[in-house]
Amino acid sequence: MGMKILMAASEAVPFAKEGGLADVVGALPRALAIRGHDVRVVMPRYYKVDRERYGLKLLPGVIAVPMGIIGDMHCGVYEGRLPDSDVPVYFLEHEEFYGRDRLYEEDNEGYLDNDNRFIFLSKAALELCKMLDFRPDVVHAHDWHTAAVPVLLNTLYRVDPYVGAAASLLTIHNMQHQGTFYEGAMDVLGIGWEHFTFLGLEKDNQVNLLKGGLYHATLINTVSEGYAREIQTPEYGWGLEGVVRERGADLSGILNGVDYAEWSPETDPLIPASYTSGDLGGKKICKRELQQAMGLPERDDVPLIGMVSRLVKQKGIDVLAEAIPRILGLDLQFVMLGAGEPWAHFYFGDIQVAYPDTFRCIIGYDNPLAHRIEAGADFFLMPSAFEPCGLNQMYSLRYGTLPIVRATGGLDDSVENFDERSLTGTGFKFWDLNAGALFDTVGWAVHTWYHRRDAMGALVRNAMARRFTWDESARGYEELYVKAMVRRGREAGV
Ligand code: ADP
Ligand code: GLC
Repeated sequence: MGMKILMAASEAVPFAKEGGLADVVGALPRALAIRGHDVRVVMPRYYKVDRERYGLKLLPGVIAVPMGIIGDMHCGVYEGRLPDSDVPVYFLEHEEFYGRDRLYEEDNEGYLDNDNRFIFLSKAALELCKMLDFRPDVVHAHDWHTAAVPVLLNTLYRVDPYVGAAASLLTIHNMQHQGTFYEGAMDVLGIGWEHFTFLGLEKDNQVNLLKGGLYHATLINTVSEGYAREIQTPEYGWGLEGVVRERGADLSGILNGVDYAEWSPETDPLIPASYTSGDLGGKKICKRELQQAMGLPERDDVPLIGMVSRLVKQKGIDVLAEAIPRILGLDLQFVMLGAGEPWAHFYFGDIQVAYPDTFRCIIGYDNPLAHRIEAGADFFLMPSAFEPCGLNQMYSLRYGTLPIVRATGGLDDSVENFDERSLTGTGFKFWDLNAGALFDTVGWAVHTWYHRRDAMGALVRNAMARRFTWDESARGYEELYVKAMVRRGREAGV
């Protein structure tokens, strides 16, 4: 039987995206709808969500959102659809909170009113149900931005006629960002200071929304099994490992899927030539075109390493910065696309000047170029310090571009290490987060490219045959929703 699911999140493809969270929120609801569920998405209407382009319709009426000591605040609601689906997306229209160019920050500084902006999102998501006359079985929240939802369902909204009975699932896409704010945010949440405790929302004298969500959600999951294990340790828990361990029995991992309608070398309209695992002729053309576009020597006889990433410490760019001079001493080419921390823009820019024939660094966000790098490169590098799931390594596999990854979280779960004897595997892994291990593994991959053509062929075939479908992930979520509903019903004595 179909379930009624409300998905509350801060970003979704194609409307607004900072990272992989948007890919997930854009794809998972569609996969669930195909499986017969009534799924609805709610998110802010940031300025960049173009009302005309997406044919958004303004719904009649406004939502009144109780913002604690601030009093009621109101917002209008626009309705749209996820592309190629009937999944409704409700956009909260609030000029003061969301009428800005960026989602979370400007010049690497978080907006000072992010507490109010995302408490508002969490509350308005629940109030929306009243407006829609929608009684969800499950409310599915993502990351700290909507982590207040499970807290609210257990407190202010516990007996609400629309959402009071709903179970909650909190998906953690990233433990590093927790939504920590001055304690005064408690008064805006309006749930009572008795929840500002060690066993509640308090952490280091601040309000920690993710911590609250971890305590209150009916169930919790992360985007890979590996990451679900890792966040129970101090190395990956960012101070919340104790809370996560306490809820260990209610925590699981579900790997994200890939939208293969967008990421397949057979059909990708953004790459210069298509190809299949049986005929890789087109991949050579893609490599040539990429070299030409990047101003690198057009050579078939040199391996090309690609990287597309937010340039932040999570992605291991500090370790890469240390290793890159040695890496570029090998006979290879390297193309990097990304944006993030200012030091990285300067540093890798300088490297480009020092190695004009081997290294190109494009600072910025460019989806078509990301596709061309996936298709044109031989290897794809992801030396992440931590990686809850990671999407690019899964795209890379599909494009026959062998991932070189640090064996952590979703990277470890989705890439199988090359075994020299059996010629099994889909990529190259290293474990220690240091420049030596990174360099050695790039060296191993490059050596394989030059001297083991048979092995390269096998690896590329293995990689291209791997699939991570959204349908499979949706089945996993379905199971969690059912389990959460049963649990919530039991708690309520039903
Ligand atoms: P994260 O969410 O931590 O950034 P993921 O691997 O889950 O990591 O998702 C990153 C997504 O953002 C992918 O779809 C990737 O292609 C895209 N991406 C990241 N940086 C860029 C960029 N500079 N240009 C184009 N796409 C990018
Ligand atoms: C986060 C993680 C990334 C994951 C994405 C989607 O941004 O950093 O690893 O793939 O969320 O779940």
